[in-house]
Amino acid sequence: MTSEEGFKVTSLKGKVTLITGASSGIGAGASVMFAKLGALLALNGRDLENLTKVAKQCTDLGAAEPLLVPGDLTNEDTVKNTVEQTIAHFGRLDVLINSAGILAMGSIETGDLAQYDKVMNVNVRSVYHLTQLCVPHLIKTKGSIVNVSSVNGQRSFPGVLAYCMSKSAIDQFTRCIALELASKQVRVNSVCPGVIITDVHRRAGLDEDQYAQVRFGVLQTPDTSLCKRSCFPDGVTESSVRCHVSVLAEHSKYKASP
Ligand SMILES: NC(=O)c1ccc[n+]([C@@H]2O[C@H](COP(=O)([O-])OP(=O)(O)OC[C@H]3O[C@@H](n4cnc5c(N)ncnc54)[C@H](OP(=O)(O)O)[C@@H]3O)[C@@H](O)[C@H]2O)c1
Repeated sequence: MTSEEGFKVTSLKGKVTLITGASSGIGAGASVMFAKLGALLALNGRDLENLTKVAKQCTDLGAAEPLLVPGDLTNEDTVKNTVEQTIAHFGRLDVLINSAGILAMGSIETGDLAQYDKVMNVNVRSVYHLTQLCVPHLIKTKGSIVNVSSVNGQRSFPGVLAYCMSKSAIDQFTRCIALELASKQVRVNSVCPGVIITDVHRRAGLDEDQYAQVRFGVLQTPDTSLCKRSCFPDGVTESSVRCHVSVLAEHSKYKASP
């Protein structure tokens, strides 16, 4: 097998996959891609209408009906129910994709503790909690975890302080649990996308001008110049999601990234 072939996952047939953030953007793209590859899906998001649309996209491709486990992941009961319902329905879990997340605009001068708590609760605390409850099941299947981090975890951007901190925490979380779970043959990786055109920026309150600046790199600092491009919707996810899939490849066993 060449090294390139090692990255090509052609089938995830029968792999039970729990995807958060599945109602929008990268998580929705991942859901459709995993459906194409034959995975059995449990999908979480808050917006049931969108979640249902994504599930229909999956079944239109011939995939099995996804299990919908909607709800706010900052609610501890929702997290517990999400895992319990997934296991009750499928009897196992092979893959966890933590894609749910929020962006918030705020610097050390303009942010506040409420914003910090909100970002950390969604982007870090809920990921810690959900992953913790999934791990016993993933150990049984020698499964995989993929965390959707961001270039903001590795590079410093002004004006999105809590978000950058949350993604750095996710990168460290990924590396630590990759080491903790390696001997149990659970693979843990993160993907760290640059700008991808989804709802995340508008939801953070960016107006059209600011959004255009983010998309075309005008707001970049020298430290962030690597991000002077963005991906457009059809590609979302194609590139980012291909990444999700490729980190599931067997040859990435025991390998912690980013
Ligand atoms: N787009 C980018 O440029 C980019 C770049 C790097 C990293 N990322 C990361 O990629 C991930 C997905 O972002 P995206 O761009 O796909 O954004 P998006 O389109 O806004 O989707 C965010 C998803 O997270 C879900 N979510 C948010 N808060 C939640 C909560 N409290 N409980 C449960 N679900 C919640 C949303 O659910 P509802 O819509 O149902 O409320 C939605 O499905 C995030 O972790 C983000 O930080 C994005």
